[in-house]
Amino acid sequence: MTTNTAISVQSTFLRQQPVKMLIGGQWVESASGKTFATINPATTEVLAQVAEGESEDINRAVVAARKAFESGPWPKMTPSQRGRLLWKLADLLEAHAEEFAALETLDNGKPIKYAKGGDVPLTVDHFRYFAGWASKLEGETIPVSIPNMFTYTLREPLGVVGQIIPWNFPLQMASWKLAPALACGNTVVLKPAEQTPLTALRLGELICEAGFPDGAVNIVPGFGETAGAALAAHPDVDKIAFTGSTEVGRKIVEASAGNLKKVTLELGGKSPNIIFPDADLKYAVRGAMNAIFFNQGQVCTAGSRLFVHQSVYEQVVSGLAEYAQKMKIGAGIDPASDLGPLVSQEQLERVLGYVESGRHEGASVVTGGERVATQDLAGYFMRPTVFDGVQDEMRIAREEIFGPVVVALPFENVEEVAARANASIYGLAAGVWTSDVKIAHKMASTLKAGVVWVNTYNMFDAAAPFGGYKQSGYGREMGHAVLDAYTQTKTVWMGLR
Ligand code: NAI
Ligand code: MG
Repeated sequence: MTTNTAISVQSTFLRQQPVKMLIGGQWVESASGKTFATINPATTEVLAQVAEGESEDINRAVVAARKAFESGPWPKMTPSQRGRLLWKLADLLEAHAEEFAALETLDNGKPIKYAKGGDVPLTVDHFRYFAGWASKLEGETIPVSIPNMFTYTLREPLGVVGQIIPWNFPLQMASWKLAPALACGNTVVLKPAEQTPLTALRLGELICEAGFPDGAVNIVPGFGETAGAALAAHPDVDKIAFTGSTEVGRKIVEASAGNLKKVTLELGGKSPNIIFPDADLKYAVRGAMNAIFFNQGQVCTAGSRLFVHQSVYEQVVSGLAEYAQKMKIGAGIDPASDLGPLVSQEQLERVLGYVESGRHEGASVVTGGERVATQDLAGYFMRPTVFDGVQDEMRIAREEIFGPVVVALPFENVEEVAARANASIYGLAAGVWTSDVKIAHKMASTLKAGVVWVNTYNMFDAAAPFGGYKQSGYGREMGHAVLDAYTQTKTVWMGLR
């Protein structure tokens, strides 16, 4: 199927271009009239022209979000009504699942089987889970030790929330941000990543169709340095929620200082995935493959440091290399593809640069290590790559690569591997493969990471909190933990005398 047939079969959304931005319930062009191209990374063809938001558009969106927060139907809605809107949005998304899966695949590159089987249904589920929370945000009564006082707390929304999301799971990241913010009664200005703006904008159409009041959700596509930076620095934004690189996370914190807006950050990782000799190796090797190659390795939790006990090291590394060689590389829109292109030329170059640095520092490539460029695969494809002969100090073992590249590292014992696994500026996730329940629990408590997976990897559920230790960020998403990030507590004292 060619790109164009895929689009016209699946979606009428791209027929009108440029794709506009959503501000105050209206679909509008950018104030400057500028547009930017979003491309299909499998072919490098332009998929669509999109309105390019800059600081003036961000300002218009913040004004609309403020107005919607302070007056109009949104703050008057009951929790049950807010919950029903979120549920309706989930139903609409589910009804358009095929279209969203195709759009996500074309814009991001990911294999359609994962867009269909993962991204879209998980997003639907996310909206449903938070639809339920809208009516369960309870305060407390407090037994203060001062006579004749009745003291209680209210949980109130923060106000206008700016949300900046990345390109690796564009639709899911939009739902992780939007669903809890709206359940808690905030209004939102969402800035999708410049590489992948389409599904968030199409979701904006469903948000309007579901009946969210004007201005409750505003979606402004544009670049990080302009639109993103303007949102992070805006004096009338009460909170920023960000997912992306640690480098930009730091800039967000700096920009937030002006009005001391609240910030939550979900940043990079260099997650250890540890295979003990007593693990069921069949599952462990397959698990190691999925941990690093899923979504072309463009996953913040990617199991990119594979620690393997020396007694099974050769077996695991050769098994993993074999799996890597068998993966079908192809356009995401082909249902048979296991591995799509990287999201952009820039990302491909960044990842290949890391491969070069690994070779340069003396590590050896067991398999992969190069771009795939054929007539059929003209986009940003590269082979899944396994490195051996790696030292912990090498850049490829320390820095987030964000591509299909894993470093294999042998180890001898539990204490040693725990210390090496924790010797990272990051602490997002970790994996452990073992049949020994004592090792499993010991590692689960010792690893400094926001999530530890034992005998599984990359599991996510709307009900299970997720977020980083150390420089992988702060605050939690999902589960009831995220509600703290979108509400503030007001304490009320009633004198009873
Ligand atoms: P990035 O951090 O630059 O982009 C993420 C989002 O932040 C995008 O929406 C972007 O427009 C926005 N942004 C960029 N600069 C900004 C600024 N100054 N102010 C406000 N917003 C800004 O990530 P990029 O450049 O796409 O990828 C670079 C590396 O970041 C990747 O190789 C990977 O290591 C890491 N990354 C991590 C992600 C995660 O899920 N934790 C997601 C994306 C990237
Ligand atoms: Mg960037």
